[in-house]
Amino acid sequence: MCTLFHATISITLLVLLLLSSTSNAAINPQSSLSLVNQFLAPQNVVRKAVGMKPLIWDEKVANYAKWYANQRRFDCDLRHSNGPYGENIFWGSGDEWTPAQAVLEWVLEKKWYSYGSNSCQGGEQCGHYTQVVWNNTERVGCARVVCSGGKGVFMTCNYDPPGNYVGQKPY
Ligand SMILES: *[C@@H]1O[C@H](CO)[C@@H](O)[C@H](O)[C@H]1NC(C)=O
Repeated sequence: MCTLFHATISITLLVLLLLSSTSNAAINPQSSLSLVNQFLAPQNVVRKAVGMKPLIWDEKVANYAKWYANQRRFDCDLRHSNGPYGENIFWGSGDEWTPAQAVLEWVLEKKWYSYGSNSCQGGEQCGHYTQVVWNNTERVGCARVVCSGGKGVFMTCNYDPPGNYVGQKPY
């Protein structure tokens, strides 16, 4: 019950954040949230909901994310870079997916995650969510590309230090 309540609160905040960024963009593109904040702000809302410090945007990590997103520009495959960082990736068809939408998809996994037993409901994924809230992760950098040939949108966030160590709780 308690977990459900908190999940409801943070998702409500997130939806508000998404709506405000969308309406700003519609009225005045100059005042829309920057790409950085579209990735960063919703992740920090979700971290705050479980008492974690905000992630800091890091240029070095962001450059890695940009480099890797560019590797995917021609195929848009939902494939990991297997680099030194934690990594959440997203793919969507069309060309309109926003950073905030990618983050929302990742953090909605919270509803499948059980903190008490550090487990995920059968058949579901929780790893994107647990990486976002991982306590020891301090820095993040993300990138978005629209792939060539109408193959869709690819987005990636990298996390330093990486989270999701098997057998460890995120916090
Ligand atoms: C999160 O990490 C900090 C710094 O390492 C530590 O002091 C704190 O106890 C941790 N919080 C939780 C909830 O594990």
